[in-house]
Amino acid sequence: MIIALGADHGGYELKESIKKHLEEKGVEYIDYGSYTGEAIDYPIIAKKVADAIVSGECGRGILCCGTGVGISIAANKVKGIRCACCSDYFSAYYTRLHNDANILAMGGRVVGAGLGIMMADVFLETEFEGGRHERRVGLITEIENEN
Ligand code: RB5
Repeated sequence: MIIALGADHGGYELKESIKKHLEEKGVEYIDYGSYTGEAIDYPIIAKKVADAIVSGECGRGILCCGTGVGISIAANKVKGIRCACCSDYFSAYYTRLHNDANILAMGGRVVGAGLGIMMADVFLETEFEGGRHERRVGLITEIENEN
């Protein structure tokens, strides 16, 4: 599975830390920017990563902005995306188990690199539990399809 990474200037450092960690683990990724940390509007990056997931080019994504909020709102506008903005380990784990989230969003001004890397790892390594949660995720998709 290839991982899609993206960040605006507020999440650039956190994205770079996660990227270095994935490199050390030998996990394949595509970096959709920002490549410099220069100011960039987060919806542009959110769309690139979301499109990579929906097209199947990448299996899961990690997005970072200052809070994780703006970039997650933008990503969730793309059909088929379930982007969870998390700042704790428990939520990053359970959003895979129960929500089958396909993108994890985090805030570079909220979460330090140590916690962010742990959250990225658990998000990427945890499989969806299915069962009753399959129905609930299906209901989310129904809402999405009404619009
Ligand atoms: C950029 O300053 C900041 O607004 C952005 O990174 C993010 O926090 C938005 O939700």
